[in-house]
Amino acid sequence: MSSTLFRTKKVEQSILDTEEPEHALKKSLSALDLTVFGVGVIIGTGIFVLTGKVAKENAGPAVSLAFVVAGVVCALAALCYAEFASTVPVAGSAYTFAYASLGELPAWIIGWDLVLEFALGTAVVAVGWSGYVRSLLDNAGWHLPGYLSGREGSSGFGFDILAAALVLVLTAILVIGVKLSARVTTVVVAIKVTVVMIVIIAGAFFIVGDNYTPFIPKVQAQEAGSSLNAPLVQLMFGYTPTNFGVMGIFTAASVVFFAFIGFDVVATAAEETKNPQRDMPRGIMGSLFICTALYVAVSIVVTGMQRYDRLSIDAPLADAFKATGHPWYAGVISFGAAVGLTTVCMILLLGQTRVFFAMSRDGLLPRFFSRVHPRFRTPHRPTILLGVIIAIVAGFTSLSELAELVNIGTLFAFVVVAIGVVILRHTRPDLHRSFRTPLVPLVPIVSVLASVWLMLNLPAETWLRFAVWMVIGFGVYFLYGRSHSRLGRHGETTEAGVHPPRPKTQ
Ligand code: ALA
Repeated sequence: MSSTLFRTKKVEQSILDTEEPEHALKKSLSALDLTVFGVGVIIGTGIFVLTGKVAKENAGPAVSLAFVVAGVVCALAALCYAEFASTVPVAGSAYTFAYASLGELPAWIIGWDLVLEFALGTAVVAVGWSGYVRSLLDNAGWHLPGYLSGREGSSGFGFDILAAALVLVLTAILVIGVKLSARVTTVVVAIKVTVVMIVIIAGAFFIVGDNYTPFIPKVQAQEAGSSLNAPLVQLMFGYTPTNFGVMGIFTAASVVFFAFIGFDVVATAAEETKNPQRDMPRGIMGSLFICTALYVAVSIVVTGMQRYDRLSIDAPLADAFKATGHPWYAGVISFGAAVGLTTVCMILLLGQTRVFFAMSRDGLLPRFFSRVHPRFRTPHRPTILLGVIIAIVAGFTSLSELAELVNIGTLFAFVVVAIGVVILRHTRPDLHRSFRTPLVPLVPIVSVLASVWLMLNLPAETWLRFAVWMVIGFGVYFLYGRSHSRLGRHGETTEAGVHPPRPKTQ
């Protein structure tokens, strides 16, 4: 049995599958499209919303260091992602990479995990978007009733009608075709980046030096509450859970990590890229670099404009301008944030449907979902199914309940990808890699350690929720995926660990 759990899909077979006409996606994206895609999804709720919360509760002005820490963890993972994406250029991201290197069960685990990242990530961002739109509507004097403003805005029944509507509209756009959505994305990304630049440049004139003291606030004991709220690492080593101080920077990093989620989504579009071998690494590293620089600049400016303990939690960037007496800027920023979060939502949804599509094409989920639309050539079935489910989740859940769960799922995917790079170098040294991760195995090992470290800084409660999700995933695999796997039925397999390393071929 263990041999079937670790059967691997040949890389050549993965590429061949993408060429079957009824399962083929259109190849239309360039390196620039991918970078725009990356920046489009990376800058979002993380910088626009979470910055205020972590500065206030965990790190103070040192939140900029938390962004650096999270950025470094992502850069290490990106070096591994880029090698995989340029070697296995098919839809599905870490799922596909794991199938080619680690075997079917690890691939299933990672695919299931990516469902968590993308689906819940979409819901989180839709809820954040809805908050900004409501704030703009309020400015214009239009107030939505409480029961249509989501759970946080109402004491009884609450459904976030705006968040749900956004997800449904984006689902329709994705069904029509990736080219249209890439075009829409380009315009929206331009607006979003402009707004971020306004925050940095205009905000720099309103910085008050005193706000940076203390830069790293003194350690404070956490308020009493459920101990499950404390970072796992503090519970493991028996510390009294604390905020701020140097450890607070890491706690903050494990939360603002959400702000970086999305560069891995670039890898999910490999199959739709004209020249994945060259463009994929450029798209991933380029978008990550741009975003890291912008985040550090924004967080330095915002914590300089307003004392960290006075930053707002809902709209910290806009409110910092209000606090310094510039409401006009605040309006522009809220508008840009609302527009920008739209693309984040759309690209996460796109990544989600592509992973689902790839899993279905492999038979691990019903094959019904992997027939592309005869005219639009998009995987319309998973797009519609997941779009509707995510709209419901977005309607009924609050932002903070989900963001940390998304983070742990994504970090776990990073761990699997980094391990996969090392394994694939040994099992398939012959494969052409247009991008090679430097210093293997050192970089992948450091990447695994860094990702695990951030995971340990997440609350114990998040670990529990993640464990429940994965147990359900095991159930689905053993009851459906293992017996329906295309690989198992057609024998398109080599056994990982059984297959000896191949000699290099020219
Ligand atoms: N990185 C994306 C955001 O910050 C998901 O919203």
